[in-house]
Amino acid sequence: RSAKYPVIAIDGPAAAGKGTLARQLAEVLELPYLDTGLLYRAVARRVLDQGGDPAHDGPEQARQLVPEDMRRNDLREPEVDQAASIVARHPEVRAALLERQRHFGRARGAVVDGRDIGTVVFPDAPAKFFITASPEVRAQRRYEQRHGQPCTDPARLAEEIAAINTRDEQDAARAAAPLRPAEDAVMVVTDDLDAAGVLDHVCQILQEKGIIR
Ligand code: DC
Repeated sequence: RSAKYPVIAIDGPAAAGKGTLARQLAEVLELPYLDTGLLYRAVARRVLDQGGDPAHDGPEQARQLVPEDMRRNDLREPEVDQAASIVARHPEVRAALLERQRHFGRARGAVVDGRDIGTVVFPDAPAKFFITASPEVRAQRRYEQRHGQPCTDPARLAEEIAAINTRDEQDAARAAAPLRPAEDAVMVVTDDLDAAGVLDHVCQILQEKGIIR
């Protein structure tokens, strides 16, 4: 793949800061941005809307997906978090979404975030990052994203941590394209970094790799 149109793969567990990093990186590098979680969320949304069961349904909904489905503003609700992680276990759902993701990245390169981008979707990507943070930090960030202020109630925070852990276990334990770092991924732990710090760190690595100047 020519360095002119690179694919940059950003994987990691829920609420680690992948989306923020990927969006900012895409802007800085003037590359298109693809949030692949939205595809799984849109499939889950369709299943829930049709009164289906995410554990059994999904393949048909994945094949019927249209671009408008990804623009819905109700894809980030907690029930969709969990349902997306469940529909994502179906190999048929993943297969239906694979070519869509590759097609997007091939045209002009892209920054792509998800769970299996470096391992399955773009195994030849010239740059791969695996973004993590402790469950506590991720739960607090997720809460702040949704409520606009830090969580001060330990019981509420514990619920958020449990939801994040459930989803990570589900994403990492599935047989089809589980959540795991590619062998050649650079690990980035973001507990002690803010968004600007993560972006700086990643840009420095991209420079060292000769992908950006
Ligand atoms: O990144 P996200 O939280 O929006 O993703 C929602 C769910 O979709 C996640 O729990 C698992 C699934 N997913 C996946 O299996 N593979 C991807 N590349 C992206 C998301």
